[in-house]
Amino acid sequence: MKNICVLVSGGGTNLQALIDAQAHGEIKGGKITCVISSKEGVYALERAKNAGIPSVVIKRKDYADSVSYSMAIKDELDKQSADLVVLAGFMTILDECVTKAYEYRIINVHPALIPSFCGEGFYGLKVHEKALEYGVKVSGATIHFVNEKADAGAIILQGTVDVENDDTPETLQRRIMENVEWKLLPKAVSLFCENRITIKNSKAYIDV
Ligand code: GAR
Repeated sequence: MKNICVLVSGGGTNLQALIDAQAHGEIKGGKITCVISSKEGVYALERAKNAGIPSVVIKRKDYADSVSYSMAIKDELDKQSADLVVLAGFMTILDECVTKAYEYRIINVHPALIPSFCGEGFYGLKVHEKALEYGVKVSGATIHFVNEKADAGAIILQGTVDVENDDTPETLQRRIMENVEWKLLPKAVSLFCENRITIKNSKAYIDV
């Protein structure tokens, strides 16, 4: 059984999707053993508590820079014997002291079709604002491995939704979460825990 640590910063609907998938036996070969939050008082922590999953708060604002914060995260992941780290609405970019130590063992969910609307500054609702501003007709979400560049690691799964004429950032976000994020994140986590993802030439392939 692989130990899964989920990192959060907010509402935690993606964490909830993982918790629900686990309860339905859809995460094969892995178990959520810990939730780490970069903020206190967020609803994701309530979700962990309700599911009986231990949580730890490591506040970003307690650290002067990204490197010292990332070191603290790495120490906790090591302590938890994490086999897989899932960034589920985690709004801090991790330094390479974590991404190198956990290479191809950190999965992120990004709410757009990478390589569009991604990288530094593209997070949460801002991503959907930019997609609507550009006028794209299709958007979606990407589940990918995390490397030293923001949103640039190997893509595991992507899914799309249509953009409607009257969409707001909020309606588009909701459609992408419901139709893509909450389905594909648990799926990718299970594929990882079942050892069904192969890396070749820095690209991820699903073993069928
Ligand atoms: C999700 O849409 C997730 O894809 C996005 O933030 C939201 C968090 O929601 N993540 C990023 O933008 C990371 N770059 P949640 O807390 O309800 O899961």
